[in-house]
Amino acid sequence: MIKKCLFPAAGYGTRFLPATKSMPKEMMPIVNKPLIEYGVDEAIEAGITGMCIVTGRGKHSLMDHFDKNYELEHQISGTNKEALLEDIRATIDAASFTYIRQKEMKGLGHAILTGRELVGDEAFAVVLADDLCLNLEDGVLSQMVALYKQFRCSIVAVEEVPEDETHKYGVISGEEMRDNLYRVDNMVEKPEQGTAPSNLAIIGRYILTPDIFDILEKTEPGKNGEIQITDALLKQAQSGCVLAYKFKGERFDCGSVEGFIQATNYCYENIYLKSDAPNQPQKTVKTG
Ligand code: G1P
Repeated sequence: MIKKCLFPAAGYGTRFLPATKSMPKEMMPIVNKPLIEYGVDEAIEAGITGMCIVTGRGKHSLMDHFDKNYELEHQISGTNKEALLEDIRATIDAASFTYIRQKEMKGLGHAILTGRELVGDEAFAVVLADDLCLNLEDGVLSQMVALYKQFRCSIVAVEEVPEDETHKYGVISGEEMRDNLYRVDNMVEKPEQGTAPSNLAIIGRYILTPDIFDILEKTEPGKNGEIQITDALLKQAQSGCVLAYKFKGERFDCGSVEGFIQATNYCYENIYLKSDAPNQPQKTVKTG
C-alpha cells in the first residue's frame, strides 16, 4: 500500500563538524549501525520496499553502504566476523535503493519535491534519519502506515515537547479525534518563542499523499527563506485533511550531540547487549 519511503539526506550535518567534514551525517553510527540504516529498517518493517534517497555532494559512502562490498565479503568469508554483515545483507536484499541529487539546498520541502521523480504518483513515507524513532515491538512508520490504511490522508508524527523548545520544530494544533490522533487545523514552522499553537512538535516521520508535490511547487519560501513542508501541509490541511499522530515509542534527536549520546546509550543497552553479535564485550568469568 505504501511502497516507497523518501529520505532527504543532502544536508551538511554542520552540528557534528569535524566528524561530518567528509562523512555524511546519515552515516554516523549509533553503536555499530549508521543512522540511516535504522530508518531503512524501520521502513522495511512497515512493509515498504522502495527506498528513495535524496542526496547531495559527498554522499558516496551512503550509496556504497546499501550495496555489496565483494572485497570485504571475500575477506571475511568463513570467519566468525561474517555474522556482523548479516543484518545489512538482509536490509539490502529486502529493498531497492534509488538516488537523486538535490542540486540546491532550499529546505525540506524542496528536498521532498526533488524526490518526486523517484516517488511518482502514489502516497509515500518520509523519514528524517536524524530523528531516530524506536519501538522494538511496533515501529513508528508501521503505526503510521496502519493509520494511513484507515484514513487515506497525509499524516505527521508528533510528540509533546517542553514549551521552551517549540521554536526548534514545526508545531501543529488541532482537534483530538481520538486518543493520540489529531485533525490538524494549524501548523507553524519553528514559531517564535511564546507563539506556538501548542506543544505538539512534528517529528521526522511523515506519510504524504502525492498531491503534496503540486502544492510544494506553488509554495513560496517561508521560515529561513526555505521551502517548508510544514507550509505545504498546512495548505493540504486547509483544503482537505492532515492528521497528526502522537506515536508510541522513543525518539532521539540525533542531530544534536546530546540526543546522539542518549540514542547511543539506549541502543547499547536495549539492542546491542541483547543481541548475539560476535563482537560484544566478553562477559568476565570470575574464577576462584
Ligand atoms: C524539520 C522540519 C520541522 C520538524 C523537524 C523534525 O526541521 O522542518 O518541521 O519539526 O524537521 O526533526 P529541521 O530539524 O530539519 O530544521
